[in-house]
Amino acid sequence: MTVEKRNTKDELGKAISDRLVAEIVAAQSDRGVAHVVLTGGSMGGLSLQSLPDATGVDWSSVHFWWGDERFVPAGSPDRNDMEADQSALSALPVPAENIHRVAGPDEVADAEAAAAAYSAAIRAPKPGDGVFDVVMLGMGPDGHVASLFPHHPAQRTENAIAIPVHDSPKPPPDRVSLTFECLNRSRQVWLLVAGAEKADSVAAAHAPDADRWDVPAAGVHGQHDTIWWLDDAAAAKLPDG
Ligand code: 6PG
Repeated sequence: MTVEKRNTKDELGKAISDRLVAEIVAAQSDRGVAHVVLTGGSMGGLSLQSLPDATGVDWSSVHFWWGDERFVPAGSPDRNDMEADQSALSALPVPAENIHRVAGPDEVADAEAAAAAYSAAIRAPKPGDGVFDVVMLGMGPDGHVASLFPHHPAQRTENAIAIPVHDSPKPPPDRVSLTFECLNRSRQVWLLVAGAEKADSVAAAHAPDADRWDVPAAGVHGQHDTIWWLDDAAAAKLPDG
């Protein structure tokens, strides 16, 4: 586990985005393809800012996914994928079929169907063994990641890739989320966290006895690395913060 700290949220966003470019280049050099999981929230947009000016990336073999999605219609400003579209994503020459969005109620009957379709897309044979190279996750002040919320029964679903989430404590109530099991198969998991309102949950997630049931962010780990990207305010309550 690594902590990458920057003074401000803007500096943090730039550092994340520059590193993301480097990881995409490295994944393509090793395996010919890069699979990146994007996050919504304000860090989602900041994390993509360096991509339009990146050199050395073969955009035809970059795939973008999302860690969770709100089950609202395509194009709704409430969707996580709109954050990415409104920042850098729509400017990149990535083939449309490489952008793997979660279906909304305008396309499928319910969040169950959306989760099943998303799971099938992730499971589909592809270079890189279907493992994500980099998963970026925002964290809520309550310590939630993707749509895995504290004390919510969806957290406990086993043997699944993507799951429907109902009765989300944060609106909208219906969502689709990757599971801990799926997230934790990834090469790298990055937690992108800025702001004083996150400091308690950051500290709780780093406590030696942290339990993902209470602080879901404590339950995500990359196979190769787990990076906590923090601004000073979010890191303030860590022992060495
Ligand atoms: C959601 C949000 C949420 C968000 C975090 C962090 O699905 O309701 O996307 O999970 O990612 O709350 O958001 P910020 O980075 O903006 O604080």
